[in-house]
Amino acid sequence: MKLAITGKGGVGKTTLTSLLAYLYAKGGQTVLAIDADPSPCLGAALGFPPEALKGLTPIAEMEELIYERTGAQPGTFGGYFKLNPRVDDIPDRFAVKHRGITLLELGAVEKGGSGCICPESVLLKQLVSHILLRRGEVVLMDMYAGVEHLGRATADSVDAMIAVVEPGARSLATAAQIKSLAGDIGLTKLYLVGNKVRSDEDRAYIEAHSPGLPVLGHLPYTLKAQEADRAGNAAYDAAPEMVEAARAIAQSLEKVLAPSPA
Ligand SMILES: Nc1ncnc2c1ncn2[C@@H]1O[C@H](COP(=O)(O)OP(=O)(O)OP(=O)(O)O)[C@@H](O)[C@H]1O
Ligand SMILES: [Mg+2]
Repeated sequence: MKLAITGKGGVGKTTLTSLLAYLYAKGGQTVLAIDADPSPCLGAALGFPPEALKGLTPIAEMEELIYERTGAQPGTFGGYFKLNPRVDDIPDRFAVKHRGITLLELGAVEKGGSGCICPESVLLKQLVSHILLRRGEVVLMDMYAGVEHLGRATADSVDAMIAVVEPGARSLATAAQIKSLAGDIGLTKLYLVGNKVRSDEDRAYIEAHSPGLPVLGHLPYTLKAQEADRAGNAAYDAAPEMVEAARAIAQSLEKVLAPSPA
């Protein structure tokens, strides 16, 4: 199972990714969680101990590795470098593991204008394609808003993309935008998850205003999520009601992705 989680800033992408990571890991699956946000914070949301996170460097910041694999210094544009650098050993060498979850941080690539081809972006693209196409575990990618950064190859190789929304007009407008961008790159398995839902009205609002996307379920609003965030604990441990809701979401996802009987 390969999932990408996206949505407007602050809606709860990282929180949902962390809940699903624990659910799949506790269910006995091997989980690779990828923090694809340029300001990584999935490790903290997973409640990884600070010592474990200290050992984690975003791949985009590994200058020596980028040079060794692409033959060019990061931050350089143009020039000659390998377009198919070796990446297969990177997930196991540069990730950290905690409670059955392997975490990898991609880091930020400085944009050199649209269509940037720089060594670090080539390495990251190759790495993401490799992970999505060749790795057998459950892969959860915590993205940042939008799908522009998702190439066609990535879109083809994720089983589904989840757009997280809040019961408000702005995050639903972002979901509509994501839907349109996803359509442009041929991604059709796009679903909504509501978060910070406080009432049946909130739930109904999201369902009524979905831009034509199936809603997998809703996570309740709870102060426990914020307290866990402040304390560096995982929502999975702090908020059982979120865990239950995330379990229902994972089950809906399984249903919609199950091959229809012939
Ligand atoms: N269901 C919830 N109830 C209450 N607070 C929540 C809930 N879900 C998330 N939060 C809080 O909202 C904030 C943003 O959540 P999170 O970091 O998961 O969002 P995000 O979409 O990943 O944000 P960003 O766009 O910055 O990456 C955090 O402080 C988190 O604890
Ligand atoms: Mg986030």
